[in-house]
Amino acid sequence: MSRRPGIATTAEEAWAALATHRGRQDPYPLYEAVRSHGPAVWLGPKKLVVVGYEECDHALRDTRLHVQDAARYDASAPGWRDHSSLRAFTSSMLYSNPPDHARLRTVAGFAFTPPRIRRLRSVIEEMTDRLLDRMAALGTTGAAVDLIAEFASRLPVAVISTMLGFPERDQMWFRDMASTIAVSTDGFRDAAALERADRAMDEMTAYFADLAGRRRREPRDDLVTHLVHTHDDDPRRLGHDELMGTLMVLLTAGFETTSFLVGHGALLALRQPTLAERLCAEPDFVTGYVEEILRFEPPVHVTSRWAAADTELPGTTVPAGTRLTLILAAANRDARRFADPDRFDPDRRDNRPLSFGAGGHFCLGAPLARLEAQIALPRLFARFPRLTAAEPPVYRDRWVVRGLETFPVAVTA
Ligand code: HEM
Repeated sequence: MSRRPGIATTAEEAWAALATHRGRQDPYPLYEAVRSHGPAVWLGPKKLVVVGYEECDHALRDTRLHVQDAARYDASAPGWRDHSSLRAFTSSMLYSNPPDHARLRTVAGFAFTPPRIRRLRSVIEEMTDRLLDRMAALGTTGAAVDLIAEFASRLPVAVISTMLGFPERDQMWFRDMASTIAVSTDGFRDAAALERADRAMDEMTAYFADLAGRRRREPRDDLVTHLVHTHDDDPRRLGHDELMGTLMVLLTAGFETTSFLVGHGALLALRQPTLAERLCAEPDFVTGYVEEILRFEPPVHVTSRWAAADTELPGTTVPAGTRLTLILAAANRDARRFADPDRFDPDRRDNRPLSFGAGGHFCLGAPLARLEAQIALPRLFARFPRLTAAEPPVYRDRWVVRGLETFPVAVTA
């Protein structure tokens, strides 16, 4: 491969570039630079980066490959327990392995089954329409309205807050706290951001403890009451920290991710106006449209595992102790699995991206996120047929959960 200034040619260079501002702005060429060395590439004796679809899928389903849990953090990142933001997440299903994982997933899982989520349709439609009314009011004078702050991020927070039973007046506070906390998922790189995440986590934990107390005194038909009762009935089923961790993960895992899904869906339709027309005219079109956004611009670019025992991926032996970085966004553009992978094609058949993961940790909120996007996008374009970009969108400077920070639009152009 010939060398061009600033273009990574080795897997190590590409990996290093992913940690830079420029790399995070457009990581796809860097994924291809890694892929040119194979679908799974060693970056050190125990460090494997996986960019192939089949290999990522396999890794996500392999029960010998574990998520980073508290015991693993103790071994690999001494000092992590000083950070409350990291501590809270490790008490949740997302950072748990068997046997705790199944127990924690079951406690909240009943609320996210597809039939239960389908019953939320009319509530989500109503919330969407209220937010669109608000956008219309904000944009009447011709002022640009930030699609992310005013719409894409408000909808998921409103929906999950209603499911959990959080008061409406606190929703925007949750949104800001959850954004601050979410940086802890990008690792330990930014000490100042991690400190802000810890402070936000402490505030949220105090808030949750207070809310749990109120629900004990005055139970309601909501998820917080259910979780509090589960804990009180049998703390072995759900311990105190696990209760807090579950609330935290339910609130934070689905908010930025769904916001980025809706944000990208709007951006892609504005780039190709026939897509916006089809979203309004063809009711069935949105299903394939949302799957293709998930493939093409997945909100979660990367996850990780470590080998608790010797195992194998197709074509690669993985010794115990190996740390694997699974780049889901790269797997979604694997030409061995998806024809013409860099083309956005909502009519694509057999489109099964890895954007919600796979196997035991498959995203609990996938039916909810899909439904929200499937409702939000056609209603957005039906309500504002002349929606246009007022300014170019700005990407958030993060890698793991990646999407638009701001996207100013004109609603009455
Ligand atoms: C477009 C939106 C979303 C995307 C792209 C997304 C992506 C993911 C991914 C990739 C995982 C697996 C991580 C891994 O295996 O390491 C995951 C897990 C999870 N997600 Fe989502 N998610 C989204 C929305 C939501 C929503 C709306 C909720 C809930 C309100 C949610 C709750 C969870 C939970 C609880 C887990 C952990 C499941 C487990 O460990 O068993 N997610 N998500």
